[in-house]
Amino acid sequence: MGDKPKIWVSRPLFPDVIARLEPVFDVHAELQNRAFSTEELVARLHGMAAAVTGLADRIDDRVLSRAPHLKFVANVSVGYNNFDIDAMRVHGVAASNTPDVLTDTTADYAWALLMAAARRVGAAERWLRAGHWQGTRFDQWLGMDLHGSTLGILGMGRIGQAIARRASGFDMRVIYHNRSRLDAGTEQSVNAHYVDKATLLRESDHLMLVLPLTPESHHAIGAAELTAMKPTATLVNIARGGIVDDVALATALGEGRLAAAGLDVFEGEPAVHRALLALDNVVLSPHIASASGRTRRAMAALAIDNVLAFFGHGPHAGNPPSRIV
Ligand code: DGY
Repeated sequence: MGDKPKIWVSRPLFPDVIARLEPVFDVHAELQNRAFSTEELVARLHGMAAAVTGLADRIDDRVLSRAPHLKFVANVSVGYNNFDIDAMRVHGVAASNTPDVLTDTTADYAWALLMAAARRVGAAERWLRAGHWQGTRFDQWLGMDLHGSTLGILGMGRIGQAIARRASGFDMRVIYHNRSRLDAGTEQSVNAHYVDKATLLRESDHLMLVLPLTPESHHAIGAAELTAMKPTATLVNIARGGIVDDVALATALGEGRLAAAGLDVFEGEPAVHRALLALDNVVLSPHIASASGRTRRAMAALAIDNVLAFFGHGPHAGNPPSRIV
């Protein structure tokens, strides 16, 4: 028991999935869901050979330089903007994420937010629950159609492509912008046309953001980009807070320069900007795009597979299936 390497699990996951670590590791799993400061992370990682982390756990040089035993960190998410990858390389710490298993669930949810925002589901439901439905007015609750419109996608990785594939059921024209253009075969299979960013902003009736947060993508949608969009457009962000300037977005929505938005992620989440909370033309959800029971279990299982593999156990021994460093 004493000889087993120690692992820290930063949040409650599924107990039966965590239990797979027990034959190999001395497991230190948090029982409460909470955010940790740098000092708290340093304290918790003391003596740990591995960690299973989430997006709220910032693993950077300040943590790594004081975690000399740490060898491997498995993030339970596809995005890993909470990792300082360069610092990990410097400190010889390997890492993994959880791609693929969440692609379709996340793409489904992007559509849920788009439909809810464009067709005003949230506001109409609040109105109904408040007892305002005394009779039906023909010209009330008018939203924007999805079918036959132009869907724009900014960021065309796996999730962007899954979103694009779903658009054919709505008879939509799909345009996209990405750092690198897809090859012709992939473009054809997802039925999407590459355009520059200015065209994407100008022509999209509905715009979905599916790009990773990097220093370059910070505020990729700010005041100027929102001004370039149609006033009738819907914006959906299932990617990361910080890609959209939330204050500029709230201003555009409040002034009617953008029809609606669906947001699953926020700058500074779990805090949500007060100006967004006050608006009726935005659908807000607490970062749940990957939250189906099956997918969240698959994400946790993949994180555990990665750790076990790194330490030479399980079917992928020696070869973590989604290693990023
Ligand atoms: C991811 O996997 O990056 C999601 O945003 C977290 O569920």
